[in-house]
Amino acid sequence: MSIIADDNDFQKEKIQKNPVIKAETIEFDKNFENCIRPKSFENYIGQSALKETLKISIEAAKKRELPLDHLLFYGPPGLGKTTLAGVIAEQMGVEIKITSAPSLERPRDIIGILMSLKGGEILFIDEIHRLNKVAEEILYPAMEDFVLDMTTGKSQTVKTLRIPLPKFTLIGATTKAGELSGPLRDRFGIIHRLEFYTEDELAQVISRTAGILNIEITEEGAHAIAKRSRGTPRIANRLIKRVSDFALVKYDGKITKDVANSSLDVLKIDNFGLDNTDRNLLKLIIEKYDGGPVGIETIAAAIGEDARTIEDVCEPYLLQAGLLQRTPRGRKVSPATYRHLGYKTVQNQQSLF
Ligand SMILES: Nc1ncnc2c1ncn2[C@@H]1O[C@H](COP(=O)(O)OP(=O)(O)OP(=O)(O)O)[C@@H](O)[C@H]1O
Ligand SMILES: [Mg+2]
Repeated sequence: MSIIADDNDFQKEKIQKNPVIKAETIEFDKNFENCIRPKSFENYIGQSALKETLKISIEAAKKRELPLDHLLFYGPPGLGKTTLAGVIAEQMGVEIKITSAPSLERPRDIIGILMSLKGGEILFIDEIHRLNKVAEEILYPAMEDFVLDMTTGKSQTVKTLRIPLPKFTLIGATTKAGELSGPLRDRFGIIHRLEFYTEDELAQVISRTAGILNIEITEEGAHAIAKRSRGTPRIANRLIKRVSDFALVKYDGKITKDVANSSLDVLKIDNFGLDNTDRNLLKLIIEKYDGGPVGIETIAAAIGEDARTIEDVCEPYLLQAGLLQRTPRGRKVSPATYRHLGYKTVQNQQSLF
């Protein structure tokens, strides 16, 4: 696997205030993630429906001796989009070149990468919704006909040059499928959403990681961490490291249910996996806006967070957990939110549903 272009600003932008519980990658994660990242379908836990369809597509492509159709993966951060692209490359027995849309600012960036590809190789573009118009237009004929359309000369003498490219597979990943342009989305043969993981699946991820890192953990310990991992393998892996530190310093090193729970309590991660930012956001809607609806910008200003961070990082899980609802007039909480945060009465029942 080769990383063609990296983008520090893009990474910095992703750094969150509380890196333990937020699923975005940050610099110090990278080495850790690389060493525990599954490389094969057998080790890639969960997402079973998606894995089955992918295995068939891969088998078919191999039989036809053709590259795989272009693929688009979307879903919240940390669910395994990049990991899956690596697994596919491994399964196809081809090289994967990894880049991210913000690193493809100038036309020559994308042209350079496309021209460096060899037949059958995979090009992975992360955060593909951030691709600029020029790069997108270069990509269209490359994806459709495996050619680069270049123009040379000026006004009257302008000539179009067609440069053939080897047949390749583009894998795009995005946390915001809605922001992808229609024409780009239409050029992907296979489009899949990654789902949040179940507690059982996350417990398997945790046990696997513990095995790799030589951390002793009981089945119940793995489930205790899984419960608070917001359905997200990246968070599960981060939490096991933190809990393992506690286990080593405060206990005998082994992670049991009690050790896991008391460590996570100290880290202020509750049994829904919420941290202070999530709780502040929900409490604000309950206490100041009677349960909502209230606009995202108002929420962002009130809790001192960036609206985009709230939408990309906090909200997907809160929505999935049924603690938050999105309506045309803004965000609302649900009766479950009141219960979870220990409020006795739902203050404004009518406004909830
Ligand atoms: N299905 C899985 N089984 C086991 N571990 C997984 C799985 N999916 C993800 N992981 C672990 O979670 C980490 C994060 O996954 P990955 O980087 O692929 O997420 P992502 O969806 O690409 O996130 P982002 O949107 O931030 O780029 C990986 O290092 C990997 O170890
Ligand atoms: Mg990724």
